[in-house]
Amino acid sequence: MKILVTGGLGFIGSHTVVELQNDGFEVVIIDDCSNSSEKVLEGITSITGKTPIFEKIDLKEKDDVADFFKRYHDITGVIHFAASKAVGESVENPLLYYENNIGTLVYMLKELSKKERSNFIFSSSCTVYGQADEMPITESAPVKVAESPYGNTKQMGEEIIADTCKVTQGLNAIALRYFNPMGAHPSAEIGELPLGVPQNLVPFITQTGVGLRDELSVYGNDYPTKDGTAVRDYIYVVDLAKAHVIALKRLMEGKNQSNYEVFNVGTGTGSSVLEVIQSFERVSGKKLNYKIVDRRPGDVISAYADTAKANEELGWKSEYTLDQAMKSAWVWEQKVRNKS
Ligand code: WQD
Repeated sequence: MKILVTGGLGFIGSHTVVELQNDGFEVVIIDDCSNSSEKVLEGITSITGKTPIFEKIDLKEKDDVADFFKRYHDITGVIHFAASKAVGESVENPLLYYENNIGTLVYMLKELSKKERSNFIFSSSCTVYGQADEMPITESAPVKVAESPYGNTKQMGEEIIADTCKVTQGLNAIALRYFNPMGAHPSAEIGELPLGVPQNLVPFITQTGVGLRDELSVYGNDYPTKDGTAVRDYIYVVDLAKAHVIALKRLMEGKNQSNYEVFNVGTGTGSSVLEVIQSFERVSGKKLNYKIVDRRPGDVISAYADTAKANEELGWKSEYTLDQAMKSAWVWEQKVRNKS
């Protein structure tokens, strides 16, 4: 039995491959390396002692996707991470996002629909909620009009999967709506490797801490929140990776209550930007250089998860604290910059 992980050389994908291997699964990675490096395979191997099968395939090539499934008959589950995920880039280049995030999903589902039974985990995002009306956010919160083509591809992706599951009895799927993933594997063998200037808060903080960036710009401190800065639910990437293995096994063991389910994956705790900065300062012992600037267009005020459904039905709960996750991010950053 093999598990296909698309985008398995990426940040969350690579951590999920490690947890799958730790759980005894044989893993096949498809990645086009457009936003990742084959070197990540070495990191995975150094943690688990097992090198996953790797195929460099562009999932936009329909024939290559079909050929892959002809060559691998024993794929019993798919975890689909492969997608472009930069919010700002998606606004400038929407067709890149619709082709890469939607086209590839359709080709993947067409192949899975041919199988008698397939188990499919989809990488979704709390972005689908936009600015939710109530905190914490439950899975029944309404999906709002997407603020970006990226967010729209996650909403459309969920709808495409739901519609396909309705008419494809053998297809069983779970969409995991991630909140804000952060951190790195405790071994510091794999972690987040943003290309260019990081868009996300935590890598920008650690790059500032290590001297790669002069100072962090805090996008607004006039929000109606505890300290004026925006609030998010920062989930440790290893906790998030484990949620994927649990969700996959739920489907493989036939414990799902319908053939399309949705779960929020977060800690259930909201942290402000200033609280994340304070976490960095605690774990690093360094003062972070930052300034307050204007709000970033498209940002929501607050987003953190109601985790009851994932805790009670999925049987998953986050285990690591913000400081533990931040510590792992800091250790990783120093290692990557050879500063430790
Ligand atoms: C977090 C907070 C910023 C950078 C995005 C995607 C989401 C998911 C996670 C993929 C916000 C503030 C940030 C900086 C700052 N990605 N910030 N200075 O925007 O919540 O979510 O990444 O699934 O889909 O939308 O994450 O890390 O960019 O921002 O003040 O230099 O940090 O304003 O309040 P975000 P983020």
